[in-house]
Amino acid sequence: MTPYRKFLLGLGLAGSLQLGACSTQTTTTDETMTAEQLGMAQAPSDVHSFAKPAEAVARHLDLDIAVNFDQKVIAGKASYQIENKAKGNEIIFDTRGLEIEQVYLGKEQTPTTFKLGDEKEFLGRPLIIAIQPETDYVTIQYRTTANADALQWLNPQQTAGKKHPFLFTQSQAILARTWIPIQDSPGIRITYSAKVQVPKELMAVMSAENPQQKNSSGSYTFEMRQAIPSYLMALSVGDMVFKPIGQQTGIYAEPATIDAAVYEFAEMDKMLVAAEKLYGKYRWDRYDLLVLPPSFPFGGMENPRLTFVTPTVLAKDRSLTSLIAHELAHSWSGNLVTNGTWDDFWLNEGFTVYFERRIMEEIYGKDYADMLNVLGYQDLQHTLEDLGQTSDDTRLKLDLEGRDPDEGLTDIAYEKGNFFLQNIERVVGRERFDQFLNKYFQTFAFQSTNTDLFLDFLRKELIQGDEKIAEQINIEGWVYTPGLPEDHAKPTSKRFAQVEESFKAWQSGKPANQLQTKDWSSHEWLHFIRMLPEQMSQQQLAELDKAFGFTNSGNSEVLAAWFIHTIRNNYAAADQALDNFLTNVGRRKFLVPIYKALAATPAGKKKAQEIYVRAKPNYHAVSTNTLDAMLK
Ligand code: BES
Ligand code: ZN
Repeated sequence: MTPYRKFLLGLGLAGSLQLGACSTQTTTTDETMTAEQLGMAQAPSDVHSFAKPAEAVARHLDLDIAVNFDQKVIAGKASYQIENKAKGNEIIFDTRGLEIEQVYLGKEQTPTTFKLGDEKEFLGRPLIIAIQPETDYVTIQYRTTANADALQWLNPQQTAGKKHPFLFTQSQAILARTWIPIQDSPGIRITYSAKVQVPKELMAVMSAENPQQKNSSGSYTFEMRQAIPSYLMALSVGDMVFKPIGQQTGIYAEPATIDAAVYEFAEMDKMLVAAEKLYGKYRWDRYDLLVLPPSFPFGGMENPRLTFVTPTVLAKDRSLTSLIAHELAHSWSGNLVTNGTWDDFWLNEGFTVYFERRIMEEIYGKDYADMLNVLGYQDLQHTLEDLGQTSDDTRLKLDLEGRDPDEGLTDIAYEKGNFFLQNIERVVGRERFDQFLNKYFQTFAFQSTNTDLFLDFLRKELIQGDEKIAEQINIEGWVYTPGLPEDHAKPTSKRFAQVEESFKAWQSGKPANQLQTKDWSSHEWLHFIRMLPEQMSQQQLAELDKAFGFTNSGNSEVLAAWFIHTIRNNYAAADQALDNFLTNVGRRKFLVPIYKALAATPAGKKKAQEIYVRAKPNYHAVSTNTLDAMLK
């Protein structure tokens, strides 16, 4: 059995205290209750971290590192202000594939002894450092190795500019420990400062206060005054420039990409206004984007103050910007109020999807948000089929012990989480639900939460003993039961109803080029493509392609959905485009279904393996870990 630790209170308070001392607007109001005041201080420990924060916990990190592109190594010192709560003789950090060279105690840097525990699959090795009861500062001198899965080192050929190398990190879920020795649990928060030395021609940015210009020394300093969990530690180094969007918002990208990005994301300021109107002040000062090279394994990553984003959303028509709304929403759900363990992942992603759709509704109207909900519902149905309707992994509250969290984090958290929250909204009304969410973000700001804490808050603030409401909200059915509650409301979309009409007309023989498709956004096209039957003739595929130009589409969502059909039906005219896509794009969400479709037949699998060998150097470890298993 896992031991229960009392970690929430201390950490939550630390967050507020650290904030009180900094320059943001954050204050602790009377309304702000700590977890313990709420009578819920007992929280399960994090099975994905070796740290014992109830005994000795890190509060602040001073990072001093150099980034060496020739050796593909980050080396330097991670110094921590610590609180030795138990006044014991050790503090434990997480490491994976790190070389630990030396450890020192105190500001005077007295060498101390340390040991690396046994390697555990996915988790790496605990770094156990000998300390004194009064120790308040430890310094770890370390270097990364070729096994640093968080890091992707790109050679110039893999960038848009083709002249300079590029580096970026991806720490979520438990990869921060592969580039920094750290207490790598989302239940632990630290503030940080960093000094990063990079080649003179490059610039460095972090999930912190950032430079807006290159300097001539290649030495950059950073400050992150708001306490964050380790999975939000982020660094990127490359030839990049900054351009502002609004007062508080802007974009970092390679010079070759910046103008396209500025056009695509021109509405990010509007999104920030909409988000603040919904759930209160943005607490992180600036909100900027970093557009990465196409190998970035995700659509977006909500690194605080600086969202990392894939260039595959540069569709030239602003049609895929709900992704920005999503990452921005994480500034509340996730970064401000954080899932305490990866078993509670839905608290990050389900809330964020709900919030994302609300932002999109605010800006583009209900009909637009409805389309996103229907597409999300389709994704959810696929995931339920994939995992099996009765799989425990289809519950919102997960049990990932003994597994790589990356494997268990699926669309369930995103879409089932979203539909659960939409269900509560329906039951209590939007106004009450918004008040409730505002209070939730206030109450748990800069703290970690978990499913039980949220549900207690829900009962106390919203259900308030009303049995009818409790029954309609159906916590048991949504949170602890596999699949979807039978009586759940299915989302519908007016704009999609029109797509369905055109689709039916085509099925009954109307030529594709005469279909009603005027003003369709990429969402409508996606819906159309998803409705296509499994078996299609060459003639049908060619007809659609000729009428709508799918194979040459500049829209990554449309392309990725189209390829599933061209693969299934051996439509050779799309082969070259497919090859290009797979060798350039590293976004796992696209790669997995495409390679899966290829691998469904023996001939296809051979082709997949042949492409994979060539494409793999362009993929991040997050993607290759999944694909290796699939294509072996
Ligand atoms: N935080 C996630 C990405 C993530 C999740 C990284 C789990 C590692 C482990 C991010 O906010 C996200 O959800 N990205 C989505 C986009 C979104 C619009 C659904 C993605 O990358 O596709
Ligand atoms: Zn997300």
